[in-house]
Amino acid sequence: MSFASVLVLNGPNLNLLGTREPTIYGAETLDDVARRCREAGQRLGLAIDFRQSNAEHQLIEWLHDARTTQQGIVFNPAAYTHTSVAIADALSAIGKPLIEVHISNVHKREAFRHHSYVSAVADGVICGCGTQGYVLALERMAEILKLR
Ligand code: DQA
Repeated sequence: MSFASVLVLNGPNLNLLGTREPTIYGAETLDDVARRCREAGQRLGLAIDFRQSNAEHQLIEWLHDARTTQQGIVFNPAAYTHTSVAIADALSAIGKPLIEVHISNVHKREAFRHHSYVSAVADGVICGCGTQGYVLALERMAEILKLR
């Protein structure tokens, strides 16, 4: 089986998963999430490049690199979801299939989390499914890549 490459990208503060507000984000660490993504990738025929950065410019650089190296993107932009036109522009510029993920249900939370600059350029959005949302996003990505 040939594996399609998918970038699983994580924004600021997600390196603190497991200790960060566990009642909202759960007990799993980012390493646990990476492991789950790689296991799902094996099952779905996706090669997973799993990354996290707290820096907007680094996320944008990785998105630019993805233009030539990745077939799809699963992205939890964290707080940049609600603030970053630059990240939304990068996603539009690279034009790859994109599933946006949020661990928590942002619509059940503060009003400033209800708007996403990323959703306008995403093929799909998964939120409020906990860290399982990453696996659901990869399942959808596998379908999208199969249809191409
Ligand atoms: C988040 C939701 C965002 O509002 C927040 O800033 C995050 C995480 C989530 O996964 O639920 O850092 O993207």
